[in-house]
This record gives sequence, structure tokens and C-alpha cells, in this order.
Amino acid sequence: MNQETLKKLVGKYATRYVEDDMTVGVGSGTTVKYFVEALAEKVKNNNLKIKCVATSSQTARQAKRLKLPVYSLCDINQIDLTIDGADEIDSNMNGIKGGGAALLREKIVATNSQKNIWIVDHSKLVKNLGRFPLPVEVIPFGYEQLMKKFEALGYQPVLRTNETSAIVKTDSNNYILDLHLGKINDPIKLATILDSTVGVVEHGLFLNVVDEVVVGNSDGISVLK
Ligand code: 5RP
Repeated sequence: MNQETLKKLVGKYATRYVEDDMTVGVGSGTTVKYFVEALAEKVKNNNLKIKCVATSSQTARQAKRLKLPVYSLCDINQIDLTIDGADEIDSNMNGIKGGGAALLREKIVATNSQKNIWIVDHSKLVKNLGRFPLPVEVIPFGYEQLMKKFEALGYQPVLRTNETSAIVKTDSNNYILDLHLGKINDPIKLATILDSTVGVVEHGLFLNVVDEVVVGNSDGISVLK
């Protein structure tokens, strides 16, 4: 099975966690796109009454197009369950997210969710985090100074740009610095440093956030808890 097929498989599989009357956090990325498609189908076929909270404007647009009811986080009481993707997951089920620049809303939705499930193909499972560049969302004001700080710390920051070399702006109009760390020996320590750095809005280390990981393997699906 190729990677796309595995993404589709886990996306569809994750719909089994969604029950009637739930408020569902809907993540971002190419794997979640398949989940949204399958969820819309399930909701329609079973006439489910659910509420969705999207972690990105892109996901909100897709969900609305497929007639899923999308609510603002301010307008709901609590999120029962969030289904999201991930860029890397280590053996402690800590992860890196933000490859799609949606990490801030993803973390806000995740931390307001009773249960978090990530859906990934097996290529996302790693021994140590850090091969995937760590996305850090920063305030545009003075971001060059932050880059210098990160450079001095050996973090090798790269300002994220798009295919036309324009600076990528997040849904909250911030920038992303991707830190090329190679291997993160102590994710908790790094998260603490980034959390206390002025100008950093949020970072893509999601530590102790996820409850279950649905993994697409060439011979089927496995669930890590
Ligand atoms: C977006 C994310 C995504 O969940 C992550 O990048 C995984 O995406 P994909 O399923 O496309 O590999 O964190 O900010």
C-alpha cells in the first residue's frame, strides 16, 4: 500500500470514534483531509448530530463544503474528541506537529479536548524526535532577532516561505521558523526554553497530549495507546 492509501485508510478508520451528539475537533493536513471526507459521509448516512471545531481555516473550508457543522471554539462547551495528524511521533507518544503551519490552533483545540487521537502512516513513527524540522510560530515583529537567538543556540532556524518565496503566514498572521535540530535529546527541556522565549507564540512539540495513535501499516492498522 502506498502512503496515500494508508492516509485514506486511517482517515476512514478514525470515524469509528465519532458518536452522535459529539463535539469533534478536526485537525489539519493531508491525512485529516481523508478523515473529514469519511466523517461527512458517516454523518450524512447515519443522520448524526455532531458539532465540529476546525484547527485551520483550510479544514474549516473543507468541512463546510461537505456540509459538516463548524463552530467556533468560543461557542461550544467542550470538545469530546479531536482527530489530528502528526509529523513525527516517538516511542513515548510525544510528537512534532505544525508541518501545515496550523500548530497554534491545533494545540489550543487539543488542550480543550477530552480525548486526542492522531492518525498517521507508519513513516511518522520515529525513535527520537527532531529529524522533522520543528515548527515554531513567532510574532512577525522583530522575528530576525529571534532567528539570531536560535542560531546562537544551534537550532538552525529557517523562515518558512512558500513556493513563490513569500513568507508563510499562519491563520493568526504570524510567521513560522522551522528549527533544524536533527535529534531532540530532551523534548521537555526544549519545550520549556521555547515556552519562555518572548516572541514565540507556540511551538510544535506536543508532549503528553495524545491518547491514542492510529497507524497505517502495509499490513493494516495498529492502534497505540
Ligand atoms: C499541520 C499538522 C499536520 O497534522 C501534520 O503536518 C501532518 O500532516 P499530514 O497528514 O499532511 O502529513 O500538524 O500543522
